[in-house]
Amino acid sequence: MPKLKLPNPIPDQLRPRPQRPGEGNGRKSTKDVVIESGRDAGISVVDWVDERTSLSGAARWTMFRKVPKGTNWFYTLGSATMFAFLSQAVTGVFLAMYYDPSPTRAYESTRHITNEVFLGEFVRGMHKWGATVMMVLIFLHMGRTFFFGAYKYPRELNWVVGVVLLVLTMIMSLTGYLLPFDQRSFWATIVADNINGTGPFLGPYLADFLRAGPEFGATTLARFYSIHMLLVPGAIAALIGVHLYLVAKLGTTAPPWVKAEEPEQLRTEKV
Ligand code: HEM
Repeated sequence: MPKLKLPNPIPDQLRPRPQRPGEGNGRKSTKDVVIESGRDAGISVVDWVDERTSLSGAARWTMFRKVPKGTNWFYTLGSATMFAFLSQAVTGVFLAMYYDPSPTRAYESTRHITNEVFLGEFVRGMHKWGATVMMVLIFLHMGRTFFFGAYKYPRELNWVVGVVLLVLTMIMSLTGYLLPFDQRSFWATIVADNINGTGPFLGPYLADFLRAGPEFGATTLARFYSIHMLLVPGAIAALIGVHLYLVAKLGTTAPPWVKAEEPEQLRTEKV
């Protein structure tokens, strides 16, 4: 029977080195034994998962890349935007545990979060200010990619994905604004909805869709809530995946004052 040869996923330099003959006095201290068995356990868990998934190859492909000379702090703005999004997702999950999207209970439930729930005011504040932070960061990141010429060949598609991410982030802001259901959010959303309705051709349909009917009413809040916490965050998460795949595949652009390298030169197969 042919012997099944499994791939060797752990790079040689990470494997524990066998002892050479004559090395040490033959006895190991308890500390060494504990450290070695801990390290070996870690490696065998990674080995076990990797033999079944080959994930380490994908992780290496994503993480081990050369970055162009001159890369600076401006290149962290994309990751900062991503962390702002993750923070919004985490705080949003906790808010959703207490928020009630019914027109008669919505305002009261947000008041309850702020005044009675443990750390409620803090989490609500993080979510509210985090929305502004994400908008600011996304614009700064877009400015960085624009002024560094990162929208040009071969990254045009990633720029387009970025534009969709920007629009989706704006939709998050619009739909989130209504949720406290106080006077300001109620009237501001009616204004925003009316502005949408003035758009050419699609405007009236869009405004109708957002209102969930001809009148601004009870169903509007449910519609905004489902767009805000299910539809758009799901789309943003998926598109961030596409965006980062393209960044990993194409590499980042060198700053305009540094001579650009070819995308192939930015990749390295070495660990
Ligand atoms: C949720 C929003 C976004 C997230 C989480 C995000 C994340 C990232 C990350 C982590 C990078 C790699 C590091 C860096 O260059 O900063 C990147 C690169 C890039 N992003 Fe975004 N981004 C977002 C929105 C946008 C927007 C709105 C645009 C433009 C309209 C855009 C265009 C690009 C381009 C062209 C690159 C490639 C940069 C290069 O090759 O140097 N992104 N993005």
